[in-house]
Amino acid sequence: MTDTQRPGVLQIRPGCVDPALVRCAATALREGRLVAFPTETVYGLGCDAFNETAISRVFIAKGRPATDPLIVHVDGLAMLDAVIAGPLPSAAHALADAFWPGPLTIVLPRNARLPSIVTGGLSTVAVRAPSHPVASAIVRECGFPIAAPSANRFSHISPTSAQHVLADLGYRCDIVVDSGRTERGLESTVITFVGADAVVLRHGVVTLEELRKSSPVPVLERRDSAHLSTAPGHEKRHYSPGAPTLALAAGTLHTTRPLCLDSLSADGVVYVGYSDRHPQLPDGWRFEALGCLSSLEGVAHDLYDTLRRIDATPVSGIVVELTGVAGLGRAIDDRLTRAASSLVVSTVSDLDDAVKTFLSTGRVE
Ligand code: TXA
Ligand code: MG
Repeated sequence: MTDTQRPGVLQIRPGCVDPALVRCAATALREGRLVAFPTETVYGLGCDAFNETAISRVFIAKGRPATDPLIVHVDGLAMLDAVIAGPLPSAAHALADAFWPGPLTIVLPRNARLPSIVTGGLSTVAVRAPSHPVASAIVRECGFPIAAPSANRFSHISPTSAQHVLADLGYRCDIVVDSGRTERGLESTVITFVGADAVVLRHGVVTLEELRKSSPVPVLERRDSAHLSTAPGHEKRHYSPGAPTLALAAGTLHTTRPLCLDSLSADGVVYVGYSDRHPQLPDGWRFEALGCLSSLEGVAHDLYDTLRRIDATPVSGIVVELTGVAGLGRAIDDRLTRAASSLVVSTVSDLDDAVKTFLSTGRVE
């Protein structure tokens, strides 16, 4: 396929997975092509994890730095031997038993046969077994592991539909498997092992609380692990819209005392919040609900789609309100914070300064 052709789109319904179409996607992957496919979290841009040329095309397609490693997708424990070194440690085994197939990614020592380009030169590899029926059917049909980062341009909002993939990557994919919106809407949780502890590198669909219930070893947040040296994938700006975006600490505009918001009046600012926590807003601001805080699953499901929809309209700036809650709220707040280039304000006067900056310069910083 040349650089200007549109990708082939295969429509595979999750409730009725057509084996002929799965074979078609698997054949393309075996031939070294790039196939975007749905997982239960977000769409991934897949390739044969052992094909160095295909892997380098994935990095180029995404505009992703070569030092940022890819997640390798397997169809279960049996396929792990091909990508990890040595036997699976017992704590990892317990967590894989509890959460696979599903949205938990485990970082383990990598097998020397795996091309180092997949892991950005690291001695570890991130692996997960997706539960989406289409993703698992494709990996099973291939019979080899599939490296697949989220199918978006680097730093941009992750894709939760085939339309998002086409908008971001278009001709850079050979095939896009369209199975509609993804169920969970946020990425997998990434964990690693440091000494005797498990450490969450990226909050995701599996919550800290759920991990702690099933883990035979303590599960720490990244900031609480004294021994964790730097890990990739922690840019301050990620999952970001094109419009200037800033984050507001939970509840900043929710108060019983009257706030003077006159100086913040402006057209074209969109406030992204929750329908069960409607704030006072300055004149001219538009309110967009991500759903209800009482249903964080719904918020996660709609988060990226809502940000993409807003970003496709002419807006002068986006203000996103953090949930400020635990559970899935940690992953939602991580994504909202990084969508806002880690610019979080928590007072009306800081909000005033930040909004004035983006209204006058078109930038948040
Ligand atoms: O839900 C998901 O995880 C989706 C679907 C497609 O599986 N994939 C995804 O991949 O979000 P990606 O590449 O967008 O994010 C992978 C994250 C990055 O933050 C990367 O730095 C981290 O995992 N990662 C990958 N390999 C790693 C490793 N060896 N050590 C530490 N972090 C790693
Ligand atoms: Mg990503």
